[in-house]
Amino acid sequence: MENFSASKLFGLALFASLSYLPSQVQGQAAPVALLNTIYNSSFSLTPEQISAANLSDDIVFRVNTVINADRSGLANGGPREDDFYTLPGIHNASQLKPGEVLKIQEVTDTFPFAISAGTTLSRILYTTETLNGTVVPASAFVLWPFASRKFSATNGSFAPVILWTHGTSGFFADAAPSAYRSLYYGDMMPFWLAQAGYTIVAPDYAGLGVGQSWDGSEIPHQYFAGPSGARDAIFSLQAARTAFKGRLDGKFAVMGHSQGGGVAWATAEYVGQLQNKAGSLAKELGDAIKGYVGTVALAPVTKAWEVGTFATVMAGMRLGSIFPDFSLDQWFTPAGIARIDLIREIQGTSSVAQQLFLNSPASDFLKPGWYNGSHHARSFEGFANPGGRDFAGPLMVVQGTQDVFVSHDITSASVEATCQISPDNHLTYVVVDGYGHTPLISATRLTYIQWLEDRFSGKTAQSGCSQVNLESVEGSAQAGHSFPQWTSGLEHSYLNVGSVYEMGVSCLRFSLFFGGTLAVWQDVVMIINGLEYAGRITVIVGYLILSKHGA
Ligand SMILES: *[C@@H]1O[C@H](CO)[C@@H](O)[C@H](O)[C@H]1NC(C)=O
Ligand SMILES: *[C@@H]1O[C@H](CO)[C@@H](O)[C@H](O)[C@H]1NC(C)=O
Ligand SMILES: *[C@@H]1O[C@H](CO)[C@@H](O)[C@H](O)[C@H]1NC(C)=O
Ligand SMILES: *[C@@H]1O[C@H](CO)[C@@H](O)[C@H](O)[C@H]1NC(C)=O
Ligand SMILES: *[C@@H]1O[C@H](CO)[C@@H](O)[C@H](O)[C@H]1NC(C)=O
Ligand SMILES: *[C@@H]1O[C@H](CO)[C@@H](O)[C@H](O)[C@H]1NC(C)=O
Repeated sequence: MENFSASKLFGLALFASLSYLPSQVQGQAAPVALLNTIYNSSFSLTPEQISAANLSDDIVFRVNTVINADRSGLANGGPREDDFYTLPGIHNASQLKPGEVLKIQEVTDTFPFAISAGTTLSRILYTTETLNGTVVPASAFVLWPFASRKFSATNGSFAPVILWTHGTSGFFADAAPSAYRSLYYGDMMPFWLAQAGYTIVAPDYAGLGVGQSWDGSEIPHQYFAGPSGARDAIFSLQAARTAFKGRLDGKFAVMGHSQGGGVAWATAEYVGQLQNKAGSLAKELGDAIKGYVGTVALAPVTKAWEVGTFATVMAGMRLGSIFPDFSLDQWFTPAGIARIDLIREIQGTSSVAQQLFLNSPASDFLKPGWYNGSHHARSFEGFANPGGRDFAGPLMVVQGTQDVFVSHDITSASVEATCQISPDNHLTYVVVDGYGHTPLISATRLTYIQWLEDRFSGKTAQSGCSQVNLESVEGSAQAGHSFPQWTSGLEHSYLNVGSVYEMGVSCLRFSLFFGGTLAVWQDVVMIINGLEYAGRITVIVGYLILSKHGA
């Protein structure tokens, strides 16, 4: 029975694909060449870099391989070569406010990208501000759907917008998602959201994309500083609304994962502050937060110093831009500082930081008194970590029990602290049994998209905190990784977004099935082109297949 329905649907999908083939165009077979994952980069650490950072042959091999793969994933050579990221000459830079548009690339040439067919990419440069209020330039992308999702209760002229805050891609200009062929999260997030009819507005975050300000100074990516990411997000939306007048003025939700899950949560807090304040900033930003319907935080970082040594080093590296009395030698050993110098020099991504800082004990890089020896770690926690504060609800927090980066216990504690402070606000806490940091995104798709649809269609969320526990339909599952993350083996896991091989439980068969269901869904939506309920019906059929499959 289940196979019958599935094959009927796949037949429909095949029919749909065949029917797209233009019949009148003469084809010619394309040339053929072998492809490897480092095809567009030939980086190699120099002997001076290797000796200054005291790297073993093994680490040298790892770093070279990972950097070449990262750089091959960048369109047009990435931010340092792509002219889009060059700042326009501006004479009044010192008068600029955050949230202004600096450059609009209305339609990005997506030939060097790998975005899904039917979607359109735009990019903007805009202004945001760092923690001390310094106005800096930054970049963002907008991914437009072929046709917008319509919600009966909303004003149909506007596309629903998801303000997407990405997880850790890196720490320097090269790591901007808007420069990645896959926009970094690819099918896992922006692509399928656009195919489902949402418009995605996605800040790269200050310091990623545009590396230097007008005066030539380096723009610090203030990693894990919630209010900093929240500003990048809200100002990117404000600028995008100005840049694409009248096209993004409807409702919006915030959604993010990992570092970006924390940013999404911090954005909900920031929106709450702006809603509650009558100050001039709130007045100016009124338009930027108009239409806010809620936030989804997936595997959010709510305790900056608990993620892992590489993350502590990368966040610590920027404390000098936050606390004038901080210097690297207060926290880091000479070996740690040598590797920080190296990663800055080579613009290493998240995957590079993991190779440099997770292959030896933390004590090689961090001094024993780094946390307790000065006020910096605690002061940072005090303002940077989201959670335990008022926020603009509703908020959904999604967390796996097997997450190696963001522990289930920590997220639960942050949820609890928040519910104590804000007991009447709406917070849904979804705990996913057996899932890790990144597979979670794909596994819980139907859960959070249904929740978002309720928000966009104006359904009132019940007040108070509640918890939902989800289990995989297959019950106890094998070790593995979810389909979108899968490249081949452990030795290729550096190619995966989230860049971690999690021994936790996720279930390949489930994910394959799930991916198949979505693919069919997209095709059905295209076939029936315009029939509003096609998506819903297919998702329900998908559910039925899944539950039969599991039974
Ligand atoms: C370089 O690293 C090796 C371990 O790979 C270590 O034994 C040695 O002490 C290090 N040298 C310096 C100068 O840090
Ligand atoms: C390949 O890399 C070169 C050098 O960085 C860059 O100029 C070029 O645009 C890249 N090719 C593509 C297709 O992105
Ligand atoms: C800066 O100058 C541009 C024109 O060069 C103008 O459009 C903009 O409003 C000015 N901004 C401020 C804050 O003065
Ligand atoms: C403010 O932060 C910027 C980095 O965004 C830094 O360059 C500047 O020195 C800081 N100013 C003060 C007064 O701390
Ligand atoms: C939808 O929004 C547009 C632009 O603000 C407005 O002109 C129109 O009257 C609205 N329609 C409805 C049904 O609210
Ligand atoms: C800081 O001090 C507290 C109490 O003295 C101790 O429990 C904790 O482990 C210390 N933290 C670090 C990272 O050294």
